[in-house]
Amino acid sequence: MCGIVGYIGNKDCADVLVDGLEKLEYRGYDSAGIAVFEKGLIKTVKTKGKLEVMKNKLISQGKPQGHCGIGHTRWASHGEPSDINSHPHSNGRVCIVHNGIIENYTELKEFLMSKGYIFISQTDSEVVASFIDYYYSDSNPFNAIKNAIQELTGSFALGIIFNNYPNRIYAVRKESPLIVGKGEDEAFIASDIPAILRYTKEYYLLENEEIALLEGGDIKIFDIHGDIIEKPLQIAKWDVSSAQKNGFPHFMLKEIHEQPEAIVKTISPRIKNGMPDFSEINLTDKMLSNYSKIHIVACGTAMYAGIVGKYAIEKLARIPVSVEVASEFRYNNPIVCENDLVIIISQSGETADTIAAMRLAKEKGADIVAIVNVQYSTISREADMSLQTWAGPEIAVASTKCYTVQLCMLYLLAFRFAFAKKLLSEDECKALTSTLSSTPKLIEKMLSSKENVQYIASKLINAEHIFFLGRGLDYALSLEGSLKLKEISYIHSEAYAAGELKHGTISLIEKGIPIISIFTQQNIISKTISNIEEVKARGADVIAVVSDNIKLPEGLADFIIKLPSTSDILMPIPAVVALQLLAYYTSVLKGIDADKPRNLAKSVTIE
Ligand code: M6R
Repeated sequence: MCGIVGYIGNKDCADVLVDGLEKLEYRGYDSAGIAVFEKGLIKTVKTKGKLEVMKNKLISQGKPQGHCGIGHTRWASHGEPSDINSHPHSNGRVCIVHNGIIENYTELKEFLMSKGYIFISQTDSEVVASFIDYYYSDSNPFNAIKNAIQELTGSFALGIIFNNYPNRIYAVRKESPLIVGKGEDEAFIASDIPAILRYTKEYYLLENEEIALLEGGDIKIFDIHGDIIEKPLQIAKWDVSSAQKNGFPHFMLKEIHEQPEAIVKTISPRIKNGMPDFSEINLTDKMLSNYSKIHIVACGTAMYAGIVGKYAIEKLARIPVSVEVASEFRYNNPIVCENDLVIIISQSGETADTIAAMRLAKEKGADIVAIVNVQYSTISREADMSLQTWAGPEIAVASTKCYTVQLCMLYLLAFRFAFAKKLLSEDECKALTSTLSSTPKLIEKMLSSKENVQYIASKLINAEHIFFLGRGLDYALSLEGSLKLKEISYIHSEAYAAGELKHGTISLIEKGIPIISIFTQQNIISKTISNIEEVKARGADVIAVVSDNIKLPEGLADFIIKLPSTSDILMPIPAVVALQLLAYYTSVLKGIDADKPRNLAKSVTIE
């Protein structure tokens, strides 16, 4: 979860570290800190709170002056957010920043205490610093790191400096992501690409237990035995502006607006002669027509995209699809057979539970297709077939544009599945693909009426509970709308299949409770209307999110958000934009930082 950075070069190190941490703050914002060599000594500044607090401390205390250092932004796992628990952590001659969880830290701590080490924090990371120091007896940094990491269980990405090497940074990782950026006479380490984009697009991917040494502008990468590894230099395809707000008050609003472009970039490479085309990843029609079961496995918003995918694939291709939460799937001995296809969905490609679920499904012999936004991420590298979404970096904690591009990829798969199974003719498949290609225009239209959504959000800010209701695809969409709203507005919200309410939940409905009801599916509209009449009769305030080709009974809704309509199956695309805006404005009107809601982190790299 946490974000780590490191810099060595001619620039002002503290500035580069803070700039990098700003781009990584989405990974956690419980505390922040940097450690920089100043005149040969390690000077550390760290504090509880968001990066802004640390920046103020740098102004009041004075910024460490130097050209080599490491930095950290924290999502607290072991030990509360506090100054003491903030990174960097030092013990003896070693100072580290750490992302991950050390599972055997208690026994290591006891061992180190028996050797005379003293601990001041409650973190597992301080134990790692001490353990490396313990092995530093022969003053060989490589050996110290190598020996220490071989006894660590859990996950880690580490930036390490040694007090007698003021011109070096070491880096190593296991299961937590870490890249090494290569600039002109300078080098970087970072948890993710946006942290270095302003300075370089060239980077190396560090694999598990490889140890990088950054010295001056030089980068050497060793395997665990100390042999140098020649690695290919990767080139980031994202541009600098994608990691900046560009005039928007929040990344979330910027990312909502980026959806039309993200869709075009994502689907264009997958459409050939008007047809969805997966030949590039060797996913043939023969394979598609042979799968007997599909499992979609993901977490959070990516999983909710999967639920829309299930509706689309089952409706068009008539293949049974199960959608499973990765953290449950991995421990439930899932029934996955060799003839099954497992679709893994992840924005980051680094979600710990999703990675574990993917590996399990692979072990069971299923084919794995991953839909993933971060290039060269663990999921994208380990899947049998990887479908890249091109949303660019998503920095706001609440996922928006990545959900939409995940939907698009799932639609293309559903169309091609149906074609391969001869349930759609080529013309029908092309027609659906062409309609999908026109959805960016619908999003533009939706965005042009955002003031109405903002006004309706102002009616929600005092609510304690909100319900989202819909049937079929509208229910699938309700799940995502409800997650988005509660995640960033802190209003308790639940999504229900509209027909399910009478089986218990309707007892919660009372006067003034807001009900957000989705009406985009013509075939079941009359049923949803009846359900909404039932909550209206009990005093609920109804906000209808409705396709502009659907007419609701007079007086049913207190407020209406009109959606530009398209084929019913694709309606989640314009509709989710309305729900994203509703969540965003509710959050902002409540004075919450929509980009960084409390307790959350963007990339959940621990289970
Ligand atoms: O990177 P991933 O797509 O694997 O992340 C999955 C979830 O953690 C993520 O979608 C989360 O639910 C978002 N905060 C939702 O807005």
